[in-house]
Amino acid sequence: MAVITNIEDLRILAERRVPRMFYDYADSGSWTESTYRANSSDFEKIKLRQRVAVNMDNRTLASTMVGIPVAMPVALAPTGLTGMQHADGEILAAKAAERFGVPFTLSTMSICSIEDIAANTSKPFWFQVYFMRDRDFMTRLVERARAANCSALVLTLDLQILGQRHKDIRNGLTAPPKLTLKNMLNLATKPTWCLNMLQTKRRSFGNIVGHAKNVSDMSSLSSWTAEQFDPRLSWDDVEWLRRAWGGKLIIKGILDPEDARIAAQSGADAIIVSNHGGRQLDGALSSIAALPAIMDAVGDRMEVHLDSGIRSGQDVLKALALGAKGTYIGRAFLYGLGAMGEAGVTACLNIIRKEMDTTMALCGLTDVKQVDSNILVPGTY
Ligand code: GLV
Repeated sequence: MAVITNIEDLRILAERRVPRMFYDYADSGSWTESTYRANSSDFEKIKLRQRVAVNMDNRTLASTMVGIPVAMPVALAPTGLTGMQHADGEILAAKAAERFGVPFTLSTMSICSIEDIAANTSKPFWFQVYFMRDRDFMTRLVERARAANCSALVLTLDLQILGQRHKDIRNGLTAPPKLTLKNMLNLATKPTWCLNMLQTKRRSFGNIVGHAKNVSDMSSLSSWTAEQFDPRLSWDDVEWLRRAWGGKLIIKGILDPEDARIAAQSGADAIIVSNHGGRQLDGALSSIAALPAIMDAVGDRMEVHLDSGIRSGQDVLKALALGAKGTYIGRAFLYGLGAMGEAGVTACLNIIRKEMDTTMALCGLTDVKQVDSNILVPGTY
């Protein structure tokens, strides 16, 4: 592919370059994928107001998320197995984000470890945690995030049990891939991926293997999740983590106004309105459709962020217009990473920046902090 002009170009390239099981892992939603599809189609239904003959000189996308300056209010979301989309994927994505001036969030389920990211970047990054049964491991994870100088902890609440993604079962998802005949035939068509992967030692879950008890490999993500993630998670545990961490806390996976109210009382700095990219509760509302009621419930009390479905700068502006202070991209940057490594993540961020900047101007605004529902056509949201 000669010219990359949008996120879909990166997706097509990633699909060609990344082994099938990892491409599918990133690109799937749970069960019928109805929520996964709604995440995008609900963005499309919202229409922008075109304004003309307004001074559009001197535009800025700079803002803050939980008080931290960002070049644009778009962070890289925590995504599992990122180092399988491309060798050392988390390090490459973190470097691209740092250079661009947006937060990078490392997933607990990453291939590169917290320490790997700290050693390869110079600015603080964010770290995402799941509630595990093994509290000693969790305590150590929080201490490792602190030692790595992470500037925010993102606590995911919507994955104590794993939504089924059919393709992962069919593909026999493991990291690294098991060398079955089917996998070897597929890997033979991805020579660059294989060569890069042979040059790194990071091929398993860097935050976990060697750190959590009795875990030397995670043959299947679903059985590992069932064994390790704590299904009894309650808001008291959230309070325990908030105290143990003591720094900025962002709660991810809120889709209901009632949960948003509880999260606001929990003392968290922000919530992320999210359905986990349509990967968990199939049949749930899209994040963008859930946002207005959550803004009504807690918008005056805490920062509200949004992920799930963002594939363009226009999508980002629509989320901001409905009240989000920040947004996250997951698949969009993974496509860039799978397509072209660090340069692909930078390409993704540049595409979104240009789309945001031009679209904001065409809506008659020059400062992203001025974006509100006035840029939307009434009756379309
Ligand atoms: C993990 O976060 C997943 O969605 O697989």
